[in-house]
Amino acid sequence: MDAGQFKIGMRTLAGAVNIITSMHSGHCYGMTATAVCSATADPPTVLACINKLASTHNAVAKSKVFCVNVLRAEDWQLSTAFSGAQSGDSRFKNGNWTRLATGAPVLIDALVSFDCRVVKTLAHGSHTVFLGQVEQMLIGQKGKPLLYSEGQYAKLASLTLGEPLPEGLDYWGF
Ligand SMILES: Cc1cc2nc3c(=O)[nH]c(=O)nc-3n(C[C@H](O)[C@H](O)[C@H](O)COP(=O)(O)O)c2cc1C
Repeated sequence: MDAGQFKIGMRTLAGAVNIITSMHSGHCYGMTATAVCSATADPPTVLACINKLASTHNAVAKSKVFCVNVLRAEDWQLSTAFSGAQSGDSRFKNGNWTRLATGAPVLIDALVSFDCRVVKTLAHGSHTVFLGQVEQMLIGQKGKPLLYSEGQYAKLASLTLGEPLPEGLDYWGF
């Protein structure tokens, strides 16, 4: 199948919206990304898929650091700014930023931020998959996550149906 068909299918895959940041040669880089997930719990590792053409790609590849900042629903305008509406360092005029262990920009307004050092990369086609070991984590603001589905921003609505997981069993499940 071709890339166009694949993208039509992937539009239905709802994702949490994050801003991946990095710091290279004294400049801040950042981009909106949904292709992010937890990879392993031990060691704590996240996975991020970044297009080779994105300006943040080179910064992450060279500096070997990145931070995943999980956005709140009310911060959807940050997602717009970091996906092309603004460019370069000026993207960081939006939101409140600090730094932790790696020096990559950390969004104080995020739900949570994972400050990572790259431990493995896999180049495949248009993207590179970066595995980042989490050096520091900042639990940020309370709120609901910003979601993206069918080309639109969305907000989480919990179902009243369904049973909670049995005591002692969590997502990591064993
Ligand atoms: C909701 C949303 C999710 C995105 N997810 C990704 C992603 O996971 N990986 C990626 O490489 N680009 C993703 N993009 C596209 C980049 O954010 C966009 O191409 C960005 O402008 C690239 O940065 P640059 O303009 O500095 O090159 C996403 C865009 C949006 C709006």
